[in-house]
Amino acid sequence: MSPFQINHLKNLTALLALLTLSFTVGCGKQSSGLVLRMAHTLDTSHPVHAAMEHMAAQLTETSAGQMKLKIYPGSQLGSERETIELLQLGAIDLVKTSTSPLEGFIPGMGVFGIPYVFRSEEHFWNVLNGDIGKQLMQLGVDKKLRGLCYYDAGSRSFYTKEKPIQSPADLKGLKIRVQNSQTSIRMIEAMGGSATPIAFGELYTALDQGVVDGAENNPPSLLTSRHYEVCKYYSLDEHTMVPDIVLIGTETWDRLTEEQRGWLQDAADESVTFQRNLWKQKTQETMYKLKEGGVEIIRPDKKPFQDAVKELHDSFKGTEAGKWMEAVLQQE
Ligand code: GCU
Repeated sequence: MSPFQINHLKNLTALLALLTLSFTVGCGKQSSGLVLRMAHTLDTSHPVHAAMEHMAAQLTETSAGQMKLKIYPGSQLGSERETIELLQLGAIDLVKTSTSPLEGFIPGMGVFGIPYVFRSEEHFWNVLNGDIGKQLMQLGVDKKLRGLCYYDAGSRSFYTKEKPIQSPADLKGLKIRVQNSQTSIRMIEAMGGSATPIAFGELYTALDQGVVDGAENNPPSLLTSRHYEVCKYYSLDEHTMVPDIVLIGTETWDRLTEEQRGWLQDAADESVTFQRNLWKQKTQETMYKLKEGGVEIIRPDKKPFQDAVKELHDSFKGTEAGKWMEAVLQQE
């Protein structure tokens, strides 16, 4: 059996165990209070995991122990797509996911996967904290997915095994791992590479075994996933700013009292402030650590990358993601 099949089998076993648990203990109400189960794919050393830990601690404190979060990190419960499906089934209560795989459920979320739509960090946060971000967050309610908050996930850039990416021409002939997202596939193709969707939890092995030649992500994810042990070139073309998002299943949300909803939303909001500070600090630290780990940091001219995706931008016109793209481009 290949490592992918083994991983898949492990995920399925974990899902079955969880589903059984969910049907036997109902919504997770135990004598120690209401326990909400939350899944994500990142390592526990990742700053976004720290934000969820912070949210958990806040929730325990403000609810005086009446509500708790149990976090299942590191793809224990499956890929992001699988955990979003578990959320829809009501088998878990919360998921922290990148917005990229969400576009398969909520097409408008595809806007974050379109390269170079954000002019700056300020523009990005104006969008997330303004009407656009708020509306996008609630677009999935009829799909049983309700947004609670966004986390900073910086900018995504290419990292490769054999040769540095100085311009889109260097992507020619390379297999680049992407998230489970059509927009990401189209971006890589527009830049001249060949896109291969692979779950984050399976990527280290895929890189190591040469299934793909590279991938793309933000600095803390490159470090904490240890992909930098295999990929020694990191080219900061910063093509996308794809936020992370915390979702709660609407079945769980509907079961909560007004007071419980307030505790949860406050804890989520608190964790956002905490996370944005931590992200800045960790991203800087990460660049040093990557260099120490033997990674060559390349700062390519972004213009050729931006030029390569101009037609891609045009091709989104008239689509759901394109509608949001127009709104984002007009936002101050
Ligand atoms: C980021 C993001 C994760 C996601 C990962 C990926 O690290 O925070 O939620 O799983 O990218 O590329 O799959």
